[in-house]
Amino acid sequence: MITLGIETSCDETACAVLENSNILRSNIVSSSLAKHKPFGGVVPEIASRHTLENIDIIFKEALRKGKVDSNNIDLISVTYGPGLIGSLLVGVSFAKALSMTLSVPFVGVNHLHAHIFANFINKRVPHRPYIGLVVSGGHTSIVLCTRNNFKELASTRDDACGEAFDKVAKILGLGYPGGPIIEEVAKSGNPDKIRFKCGRFKNSFDFSFSGIKTAVLYYVKKCKNVRKEIPDICASFQKSVINDLVNKTIALAIANKAKIIAAGGGVTANNLLRMELAKEAEKYNITVLFPPVDHSLDNGAMVARYGYELFRRGKSSDFGLSSVPRLGF
Ligand code: KG4
Ligand code: ZN
Repeated sequence: MITLGIETSCDETACAVLENSNILRSNIVSSSLAKHKPFGGVVPEIASRHTLENIDIIFKEALRKGKVDSNNIDLISVTYGPGLIGSLLVGVSFAKALSMTLSVPFVGVNHLHAHIFANFINKRVPHRPYIGLVVSGGHTSIVLCTRNNFKELASTRDDACGEAFDKVAKILGLGYPGGPIIEEVAKSGNPDKIRFKCGRFKNSFDFSFSGIKTAVLYYVKKCKNVRKEIPDICASFQKSVINDLVNKTIALAIANKAKIIAAGGGVTANNLLRMELAKEAEKYNITVLFPPVDHSLDNGAMVARYGYELFRRGKSSDFGLSSVPRLGF
């Protein structure tokens, strides 16, 4: 069975061809990142125009690389939320038009669920309840996942984790997106130099990253030589955020007797997170799954994988499907 995955929720225009659940024939991503850099963040209008101009090109490239003809497609899977409305609409409309012309079913997919399912290309979906950690530019959530349900156990009350990396990089004048730059600069810094703290709540594992961002801002304001301190600021900020993610994820895995954690989203490209979460989980005999880095970031493969799963369970969408920018778990 051939599934075409379409992902256009933010600044990426992506298509993938997946055979059954595990043979990824192609995974093509076109990012409009360079066009947003001068603005220090994603400009929705630029993102949706980029998607509109590129969706057909990326679709054809995915077919060519995947060595399939459009007539070989059995199912179309598309992200319908959450994300930027303009970009989502392009992907969903494209999927509907294809579905109609090819007379094949299509299924709308929640982008957050798909990030977790990026782990299950080549791996089996766990039978027992497992923990999902979704950390991206727009979301920070820990969820309890079962076959038919995603129950949010904790989420951010303000900025998303990736957003905090982006904002701190902006404060330091390092460019966009902040995550990879901060990770790189932090390599030459001392993570124990400055004590930056993430938000905590009583009787809750929810996150808050807006305070740590402001703490960095105040620290920078009173710095005599900011340039010299940038590596230490990056390393100290990164350590605090990663510790917060790791501690809360492990605590909720233990509380819910989960033996597997499946992580996904752009921030899981971070090597310190990968190392620290795996190290801490090992102490409790918990297995941590991370997708390959190119599947951590937005891509069509994860959308194809989750759409395939839904379709196997008898789900598909009709032409009334709307794009939902504020879709939660
Ligand atoms: O999942 P994603 O590609 O798009 C959204 O759905 O938001 O995530 C993008 C986010 C950005 O905020 C970016 O700064 C962050 O992921 N990111 C990282 C790293 N690479 C990307 N954050 C920390 N460390 C990284 N290496
Ligand atoms: Zn994403």
